[in-house]
Amino acid sequence: MSLATPAGPAPERKVAWITGGGTGTGRAVAAAAARAGWAVVVSGRRPEPLRETAAAIGRDGGEALALPLDVQDVTAVAAARAAVVERFGRLDGLVLAAGLNTPRRRWDDQDVSAVHDVIATNLLAPVTVVDAALPDLRRSAGVVVVVSSYAGWTFSPGAGVAYSASKTALGPLVRALNQQEAPHGVRACHLCPGDIATDFLDQRPEVPDEAARAVMLTPEDVARTVQFVLDSPPHVRFDEVVVSPLSQR
Ligand SMILES: NC(=O)c1ccc[n+]([C@@H]2O[C@H](COP(=O)([O-])OP(=O)(O)OC[C@H]3O[C@@H](n4cnc5c(N)ncnc54)[C@H](OP(=O)(O)O)[C@@H]3O)[C@@H](O)[C@H]2O)c1
Repeated sequence: MSLATPAGPAPERKVAWITGGGTGTGRAVAAAAARAGWAVVVSGRRPEPLRETAAAIGRDGGEALALPLDVQDVTAVAAARAAVVERFGRLDGLVLAAGLNTPRRRWDDQDVSAVHDVIATNLLAPVTVVDAALPDLRRSAGVVVVVSSYAGWTFSPGAGVAYSASKTALGPLVRALNQQEAPHGVRACHLCPGDIATDFLDQRPEVPDEAARAVMLTPEDVARTVQFVLDSPPHVRFDEVVVSPLSQR
């Protein structure tokens, strides 16, 4: 009797689609997923950071596709989802890291069109992308990581009207997704990071200096958390994860 394991076809790579994947947290998530053996698709509006991200992953031996899009554009999201499936034939993970804030974020100084833009990016776009990808996620028993915020977990006075409201609403969005889609094997995580040292901080009314950034989470800290969720077995769900730097107040 031979104890050798018959050599079957190499298992197909899992595929993750990361919005906001060209910069900051999304870029670190893409790099970590690629290192873990996933093929990755990165999306955002600016083509150049996406190309750079995909090229860096390629240089490290990973597989990455850059798909520029505005997540507010329902037609573009549907086309991108079709392109992912055409290229890879599957979608196993969705990481929604595209996000927006505005410096004028108080009731006494906000611009209503900016409020709409923040809510469209942070709340409506995740609905659009999950809706487009759900049939594929059902087929793969896939996992969704919605990159929300500490401000989506607990009221954070500095985060602003639109940002706080949009991120807080991601909690019930994820809970409804889990409640309704568990029978189809789909799992979702409301990921609530505290301060992360990225360019996102430049949108604050008072931009943190280097010393302040040095004690924040790094994008890689968050990427490690995301990868843990992505790589967990199909019967394990992380409904909500709060990850914050020791310095978070
Ligand atoms: N930094 C923090 O302290 C912090 C804390 C908690 C949560 N977060 C969340 O983490 C996520 C990632 O942010 P980050 O800190 O990594 O900052 P970041 O590097 O500025 O990432 C934001 C990303 O969103 C993309 N994006 C914005 N609007 C978009 C649109 N309409 N369509 C497509 N892509 C769009 C941007 O790319 P383009 O501009 O090229 O489109 C960019 O890649 C965000 O959801 C943010 O709310 C950040």
